[in-house]
Amino acid sequence: MLIPVISSQSLFLLKRIPESVSDTVILVAGARPNFMKIAPIHKQLRHRGVNTLLVHTGQHYDHNMSQVFFDELGIPEPDIHMGVGSDSHSRQTAKIMIHFEDVCLEHNPRMVVVVGDVNSTLACAITAKKLGITVAHVEAGLRSRDIQMPEEINRVLTDRISDLLFTTSRGANENLFSEGCSSESIFFVGNVMIDSLYKAVKHSQKSTILKDIGVVEQGYCLVTMHRPSNVDNLSTLSGLILALEQISREIPIIIPAHPRTVHSLERFEMADRIRNNNQIYLIPAQGYFDFINLVKNSKFVMTDSGGLQEESTILGVQCLTLRKNTERPITVTQGTNKVVGTETKDIIDAFHNLDFSKKTQSPEYWDGKTAHRIAKVIVDQLSAAV
Ligand code: UD1
Repeated sequence: MLIPVISSQSLFLLKRIPESVSDTVILVAGARPNFMKIAPIHKQLRHRGVNTLLVHTGQHYDHNMSQVFFDELGIPEPDIHMGVGSDSHSRQTAKIMIHFEDVCLEHNPRMVVVVGDVNSTLACAITAKKLGITVAHVEAGLRSRDIQMPEEINRVLTDRISDLLFTTSRGANENLFSEGCSSESIFFVGNVMIDSLYKAVKHSQKSTILKDIGVVEQGYCLVTMHRPSNVDNLSTLSGLILALEQISREIPIIIPAHPRTVHSLERFEMADRIRNNNQIYLIPAQGYFDFINLVKNSKFVMTDSGGLQEESTILGVQCLTLRKNTERPITVTQGTNKVVGTETKDIIDAFHNLDFSKKTQSPEYWDGKTAHRIAKVIVDQLSAAV
């Protein structure tokens, strides 16, 4: 059916409105932390005969930020690659929405599954919701309570409009209840990223990354940082780098650097200082297997990443989080994580007070079977809606 739509310029355009709803489920992946979450869900849905359409927004596009994860995780090539690329938050979000609306209008999916908290997550959730398509959000209910964080904005808004909310912890359920979400929409399924982690640990044994860098097991600290609040601000980044320099006098530090971090270090003229420090290894962002090998064999990690707080908890590696808060408190209460902030002295004190004998408890349902639980709920929902 073709119906006229009035554009903002009052021009009459023809937009195709689908005749009937298909049985397709669209899975959205856009940025690095999405890929390890989408991989097991995609596999489980295909296994159950669900007609999936894998859409890559193109938010991340460097080989080491995207393709290497598809290769290592065995994710098939995306059915649709939107190639949106980098831009300001609003422009990137808007571009994804415009492209994704066309994808939805053409394929008319029954459901759109989004994961995590990146701009692609929110952009595709809004677009689908406005077309009346069921939206499922995987990793719902996480809250840092810092609404200045781009990811917190994405989390709160995505959850508000999603029909199915898949959570990683009972604490996330509580957050959603307190915001008025109905219990029928919330499914505590566990952490799907851990499904991929267990597989990656096996594969990572073949990695030669430690030898390539020239470090030994337990003989280094692994650092990742890329939050805008940490790396886009000169005084915060200076304080963090000072802490790393001081700690590196006691243990070598490896920094697989996100492109944003590399840009900032260059812009603030700190890159050469780090490159000339023979106790600090500034290396490019790594593929999944090499990265997991680096985490698993490190003495401890320091990070502002959400995913690494969870991975280190499961691998039993002590983690100092270089932020003032975490949306993943279960990694503190049950895991290895300690939130230490971004002040130089606090980080160094936390390093000196690390307790390597601390025992951790694997959070409930972080058991490698989360994708199976998610797929079951999705299939039940699709059958119920027929
Ligand atoms: C995004 C997510 C963040 C996630 C991170 C993981 C949002 C709001 N943030 O942040 O939650 O932890 O991904 O990596 O979605 N760039 C490249 N190559 C790439 C991708 C990015 O060079 O493949 C550079 C570009 O200069 C770009 C900058 O990195 O402007 C930032 O990328 P962007 O996707 O906007 O945000 P991230 O900081 O990666």
